[in-house]
Amino acid sequence: MIHHEIRQETPFDVVRREALLDAAFGESRFAKTAERLREDRLPAEGLSFVAVAAGRLVGTLRLWNVAAGPGRKALLLGPLAVDGEVRDRGIGGAMMEHALGEARRRGHAAVLLVGDAPYYGRFGFSAEKTGALWLPGPYARDRLLAQEIAPGALDGARGLIAANGRRKGLRRLKSGVAAPAAGDSALASHAA
Ligand SMILES: CC(C)(COP(=O)(O)OP(=O)(O)OC[C@H]1O[C@@H](n2cnc3c(N)ncnc32)[C@H](O)[C@@H]1OP(=O)(O)O)[C@@H](O)C(=O)NCCC(=O)NCCS
Repeated sequence: MIHHEIRQETPFDVVRREALLDAAFGESRFAKTAERLREDRLPAEGLSFVAVAAGRLVGTLRLWNVAAGPGRKALLLGPLAVDGEVRDRGIGGAMMEHALGEARRRGHAAVLLVGDAPYYGRFGFSAEKTGALWLPGPYARDRLLAQEIAPGALDGARGLIAANGRRKGLRRLKSGVAAPAAGDSALASHAA
């Protein structure tokens, strides 16, 4: 395990986070169906994380508010990426555990994601309860995974997974000057 710190993302991290995501996924990341649930939205309150090692941003993970079918609140996890130079040293796993712990602490009931079952299975994700849920676009069904934080939270889950997080936009400071909302950036058109 390489020494690192996991902390909340700040606006100062956004440019480096975007560079890390570009390196990990390339431009195609904006075409992913999961992106339809993230674009123009802010991440869930308190659930944007970065990993920092030797002063460098080496990991990113955020969670987003969604509805898992009508009236059922859940989180969507992702994207998760770790800098190629420090992979396989436990940072990705540590970020997952940290983020899931914080989601639990904040009272969230369930977490969904689109990803590799062999990787996410180790954190308790499976396709067991996602069979009657669907995403707004193409995806491989066996990659739609979920984990219940509250047991039974996804029992009978059925329907479209839809974004229901706060929208990005300009907020007014007390000074009257418009400022980007937390999580916005110069790259705002590239919602990641
Ligand atoms: C996936 C990723 C975040 C893992 O980060 P990491 O810091 O290397 O993770 P850890 O060190 O905690 O865990 C590494 C383990 O995960 C395994 N692993 C990594 N990607 C995997 C995958 N797609 N499927 C199965 N296992 C995978 C490694 O083989 C290693 O296995 P081991 O513990 O048996 O040796 C990192 O490889 C990455 O950024 N990849 C590119 C982006 C990506 O694919 N993100 C996930 C999809 S959203």
